[in-house]
Amino acid sequence: MLQLKNVSKNFGGLPALSDVSFDVPRGKLTALIGPNGAGKSTMINCMTGVLEPSSGEITFQQQLISNLPAYKISRLGISRTFQNLKIFPRLTVLENILTGLSTEGGDSMIMAMLRLPYLRHQERQLKLRAMAALDRFGLTDKANWPARVLAYGDKKRVELARATVGKPQLILLDEPVAGLNAEETATIAEQLRLLRSSGHTMLLVEHDMDLVMEIADQVVVLDSGKCIATGTPAEVRNNPLVLEAYLGRMDATA
Ligand SMILES: Nc1ncnc2c1ncn2[C@@H]1O[C@H](COP(=O)(O)OP(=O)(O)O)[C@@H](O)[C@H]1O
Ligand SMILES: [Mg+2]
Repeated sequence: MLQLKNVSKNFGGLPALSDVSFDVPRGKLTALIGPNGAGKSTMINCMTGVLEPSSGEITFQQQLISNLPAYKISRLGISRTFQNLKIFPRLTVLENILTGLSTEGGDSMIMAMLRLPYLRHQERQLKLRAMAALDRFGLTDKANWPARVLAYGDKKRVELARATVGKPQLILLDEPVAGLNAEETATIAEQLRLLRSSGHTMLLVEHDMDLVMEIADQVVVLDSGKCIATGTPAEVRNNPLVLEAYLGRMDATA
């Protein structure tokens, strides 16, 4: 579904990604792992048009996207969450979720003037979908709260609800359970399992190895901007390069 070919990204001459190539297959969950600073978030930023790769190509369903701005990539059906939460603090929880449907509500002014009843109907439908998403993530009670007053764990759930409400073709999740306690992690993990079993295509950046080993179909390992291994969780777990370059170090710092 998504293909990276020799993608590199430099920041002021320093390489954050060097010649990275891998595929994200349709209907599967691909985990992207690697130590801090390996380039995982930079990779997601390149895939979503937040950053433009310095060289290389990213294609989504055979279309070149690495030269497209973020809003166009989003319209093609790629959604994401951010490692450092990006929710709208002054909007309500429900309004935050509705922004995840903004590419579907986009009618012109003329449409708005000529077809008001249709628009009202459409608005109601979008709101129903947003409410259903809130329900899935246990946020119904807080639908009308301003997002800024939510606890950190609830904000993570709002991001995930927003990233999934629009029925995206590809969902990129940057550390969705980072900083959450065991109970909160379990809730999110359950949602990820549901998304996976309903056939969604996902790329998951995650440090929780138990979670990665359990739910990933494929694992891609980055280290210092280079892709050092790809394979099934079992293959990657037993890869000496990975053990040395990543798992060993992570065990040491965990
Ligand atoms: N906007 C930026 N400007 C300069 N350097 C950056 C920027 N974003 C990331 N980097 C650098 O790129 C490298 C990879 O960072 P990042 O993609 O955030 O890693 P990860 O998500 O794997 O922890 C790091 O050395 C980081 O300091
Ligand atoms: Mg990161």
